[in-house]
Amino acid sequence: MHLLPTLAALLVFMAGATAGFAQPNAPVPVLQIKAGQVTTPVSPMLYGLMTEEINYSYEGGLYGELIRNRAFKANPTNAVFWSPVGGAAISLDPGTPLNDALNVSLKLAAAGASKQVPAGLANGGYWGIPLRPKTSYHVSFYAKASGDFAGPLTASLESTNGKILAQAEISGLTGEWKKFAVDLTTKRIKPSKDNIFKLTTAAPGTIWLQQVSLFPPTFNNRPNGNRPDIMQLMADMHPKFLRLPGGNYLEGDYINERFDWKKTIGDLAQRPGHRSPWNYWSTDGFGLLEYLEWCEDLHMEPLLAVFAGYALRHDYVKPGPDLEPYVQDALDEIEYVSGDAATTKWGAQRAKDGHPAPFPLHYIEVGNEDWFDKSGSYDGRFTQFFNAIKAKYPSLQIIATANVKTSEPDLIDEHYYRSQEEMEAQSHMYDTRERGGKTKVFVGEWATRVGSPTPNMAGALGDAAWMCCMERNSDLVLMHSYAPLFVNVSDLGKGRSMQWPSDLIGYDALTSYGSPSYYAQVMFSSRHGDQVLATDSQNIPTYEWKVPARRRNGAEQPASTRQVPSLFFDATRDQASGTIYLKVVNRAAAPQPVKIEISGAAAVAAKGVATVLKADQTTDTNSLKDPRKIVPVTEKASGLGADFTRTFPPYSITVLELQTK
Ligand code: AHR
Repeated sequence: MHLLPTLAALLVFMAGATAGFAQPNAPVPVLQIKAGQVTTPVSPMLYGLMTEEINYSYEGGLYGELIRNRAFKANPTNAVFWSPVGGAAISLDPGTPLNDALNVSLKLAAAGASKQVPAGLANGGYWGIPLRPKTSYHVSFYAKASGDFAGPLTASLESTNGKILAQAEISGLTGEWKKFAVDLTTKRIKPSKDNIFKLTTAAPGTIWLQQVSLFPPTFNNRPNGNRPDIMQLMADMHPKFLRLPGGNYLEGDYINERFDWKKTIGDLAQRPGHRSPWNYWSTDGFGLLEYLEWCEDLHMEPLLAVFAGYALRHDYVKPGPDLEPYVQDALDEIEYVSGDAATTKWGAQRAKDGHPAPFPLHYIEVGNEDWFDKSGSYDGRFTQFFNAIKAKYPSLQIIATANVKTSEPDLIDEHYYRSQEEMEAQSHMYDTRERGGKTKVFVGEWATRVGSPTPNMAGALGDAAWMCCMERNSDLVLMHSYAPLFVNVSDLGKGRSMQWPSDLIGYDALTSYGSPSYYAQVMFSSRHGDQVLATDSQNIPTYEWKVPARRRNGAEQPASTRQVPSLFFDATRDQASGTIYLKVVNRAAAPQPVKIEISGAAAVAAKGVATVLKADQTTDTNSLKDPRKIVPVTEKASGLGADFTRTFPPYSITVLELQTK
């Protein structure tokens, strides 16, 4: 009879050796916080965002535009994502361009149109057109018509089962290109994405169209602006910077497919658009100024990555005179972002584009992941950019993306995409990294890649272990940003709405949600002090990780086993209020009692606040259907003091706020 519990205990013990269960009779872990010893200020720029056009991040994501392929350039031969209505024929017409940038139009042949059977075309948006009750949608387009067309056109929003939800007429089409606009307002409808946009006519004739656009209300009501729900999710992260515009998106597969910023500013109808390396078309309606306004709306500053003469398929520009035009382009770009509107050419251009005030700018990144450039050209390319930028803007901090020898970057961008175990195993990496050199670290892309399309609780636990490491070492790691930030989860097959399978924030056309990793970020970025406190520990439990054979930094590593901590922590203090923020991550399947000892503070209050993110299983996650399954819960905490024991739940991330004097 007594055998069963003994066997169960043995099994728990054995499982604990590999899966992170607390081991019976293991000594209680002890964490010491030395409130009298500040190791470093917390970097004020520590928590930021990284972005690029991937997974339909802007078009079909953050950018408000609801029409897919509005400029008809997504495919060179077909009017993809558009369909004919009522017997019309639609085709691309390169012979009737709007201008040199939008050098094609859609030809709508509606010879058989009548009152009984109107003819036209329809667009289903990015996996649906989201409509809400009593909301106005702004329609605009360029059009011209054949001489026999007597108009008008009808713009309508319809449910996919044919119910008209809003409608308006547009007349005045002539043989010349003209811009038309009208607002469509819904009545008391149910929010839904099962809708289409239609442009039809009851009058026979031929019509040419370009830049057919439908905009919902946007965050801060910006024209050409962003989706409010996704902006709010980011606002809740309190990011300090935005690394833009990539990532691979900065580079392009080929040099002529790079993010060519000068082609992304000004009148939307003068932006030619380009193919992104993630294999879909960007209209560039979301261009450089739109990135900057996104920064402004969320009170963060841009961290501007400039194209550095290297594209993903290994084309590169030799350092020297060939690279000069690209260096000049970067200098112009910096001036566009931060130059004075009255005295600089590109500052004046920005003012002309609608934003007279310069944007704050302190960080410039030269290229992206240039360790892929096996030609050895990065050293020379970086130094050429570095010297030119420093000569004109000595106070800008310049970030390298790979090691260089001929100049000393202010920061180096390191990227870590890892499994949960790898993240946890490297959670003390920066504790022992050599200090002393001038170059600091920017972890510009990182993620624990467990769970798809968005990470699950295992991902959040790995992330939190890693964030403890970065926060604790924020004398060295000045900034970091998770990547990728967004994913459209509408159609998850290969090459559809997702190109990268673990992303922080998910959405479809109508709603959005944060992953457990997102909530871990919110907890870390909004609950920390401005000083890192010295800490120590004893009896930290470990688990055995069977490391598979793998390739790391170009070398083969054989399979091995490794003991990895299963408890992670760091402590910061807000100097003004005396609040200590103790972060504790318990990645184990069992509750973990921990003895916490605080020295160097005159008094520690018995009452405080605890914010906890936890799950029953590491595979638990959030989704469109269950967006708040795993969210942080903030409660009053008691039984605290200079010396207390607290039990941390299984699979949990906790921020304890302790009041000290
Ligand atoms: O975040 C996805 C991609 O990963 C980025 O575009 C690139 O920089 C990295 O390889």
